Amino acid sequence: MISDPDVVGLLYLVAIVCFVVSLRFLSSPKHARRGNWVGGLGMVIAIATTLALDGISNWGLIAAGGVIGAIVGVVGARTVKMTAMPQMVALFNGVGGGAAALIALSEFHVAVEGSLAGDEIVSIVLSALIGSISFSGSLVAFAKLQELMSGRPIVFSGQNLFNSAILLGAAALGVALVAGVDTEWALIALIALALLFGVMFVLPIGGADMPVVISLLNAFTGLAASATGFVLDSTVLIVAGALVGAAGTLLTLLMAKAMNRSVANVVFGAFGQVQAGAGAARVDDGRTVRATTPEDVAVQLSFARKVIIVPGYGLAVAQAQHDVRQLAELLEEKGIDVAYAIHPVAGRMPGHMNVLLAEANVPYDQLKEMDEINPEFPQTDVALVIGANDVVNPAARSDPASPIYGMPILDVDKSASVIVMKRSMAPGFAGIDNELFLDPTTTMLFGNAKDSIVKLIAAVKAT
Ligand code: TAP
Repeated sequence: MISDPDVVGLLYLVAIVCFVVSLRFLSSPKHARRGNWVGGLGMVIAIATTLALDGISNWGLIAAGGVIGAIVGVVGARTVKMTAMPQMVALFNGVGGGAAALIALSEFHVAVEGSLAGDEIVSIVLSALIGSISFSGSLVAFAKLQELMSGRPIVFSGQNLFNSAILLGAAALGVALVAGVDTEWALIALIALALLFGVMFVLPIGGADMPVVISLLNAFTGLAASATGFVLDSTVLIVAGALVGAAGTLLTLLMAKAMNRSVANVVFGAFGQVQAGAGAARVDDGRTVRATTPEDVAVQLSFARKVIIVPGYGLAVAQAQHDVRQLAELLEEKGIDVAYAIHPVAGRMPGHMNVLLAEANVPYDQLKEMDEINPEFPQTDVALVIGANDVVNPAARSDPASPIYGMPILDVDKSASVIVMKRSMAPGFAGIDNELFLDPTTTMLFGNAKDSIVKLIAAVKAT
């Protein structure tokens, strides 16, 4: 048992340093694994120190909770498919928000009537309010992404008014509690309204915008945890929550910026609806789509000096990352210069392509960020676009009417030739046509990316 507050403070400080260092490592794919370990170590120190504090009892309950949580966490994280990662994060995030709200309720419940100081009740209210919104909002996000309910935006007239009324009601109860209304029912009603608001807040958001919303909810959970830290007088929780809140906020802003959209547009824009007519091969302007075969692509690749691979969401769907690495190695053996172009919002979650390719042991130095690789496209013989669509759509540069106008893209159309591997002419996440597919330098290799790459590998070996 630790009773010396200096020792406790020191151990918490070590945990906090671990969290900060972990975030630093997590900012580059090369060190991300180490970052995970350091963060985990910090968490072990924080939990062990807390459990060793004087006055902890109920060991049976704590152990039962710990074991159940650990089993769910380990099994969930080990079995989750890469494409299901966003909903997994949503679920874990929601549980954190729910825990913050429950702690607030329990602290209010055990406090002797009238004994809570002003700052304590403010922390309890914030923790309950934000934690509950994050909990129910994350569960709806999970349900949408897991297709337990429709992923489309669910809208009705007067929605904004209705949502504002719920939030105002919850806020009014919070103000009443802070002002001295000392009844538990007020807090329970606040939590109920906040839970309802969380549901209503996420319902009108399109399923495919969910990663940004999940990141926003993640920031909410961080703030709720930080407020809970004040309730429990726990420095480590205050700092860890603030770090999560800040990281979630930055990530939300970065994702919105990389899509050239505001966070408000993500939350209120009902984005991601397929445009009428999108996906049809456009013949009205005389240009048609040119399909190719793995054998033709193999010949083209074999004669190239420089090839840039552009992975997108379809690569994750097809789980073709190992085959891509094999293809790249084969080309390198032939003396061809190969690099991977990584767009910041390729795929469906931050760092999606980095994680995917790292899993296949693609060397980190071959992964090039957008700003670094874009000047190289004009000297590139073949840009191999695998399951990417929006991130290479030239409309982002040239069509002010396009919903993705202004989004920075990978300039694949500047390379000598482009090969696009996808199954059909279907649009990507933004639901819009892609003129790149009609470009005279582009040929389409239709099919599931994994099948196409396996055939391509065989064809390259045969040339
Ligand atoms: P998308 O534009 O979504 O295009 C993916 C393409 O992959 C589709 O057109 C699809 O065409 C193809 N595809 C799907 N399954 C395939 C398979 N098994 N084999 C081959 N192709 C397959 O992807 P992107 O270019 O990566 O762009 C990402 C989009 O998501 C951006 O609009 C971005 O703003 C958005 N977004 C990203 C994030 C983050 S953080 N990454 C978060 C939210 C939204 P077919 O159906 O014809 O095969």
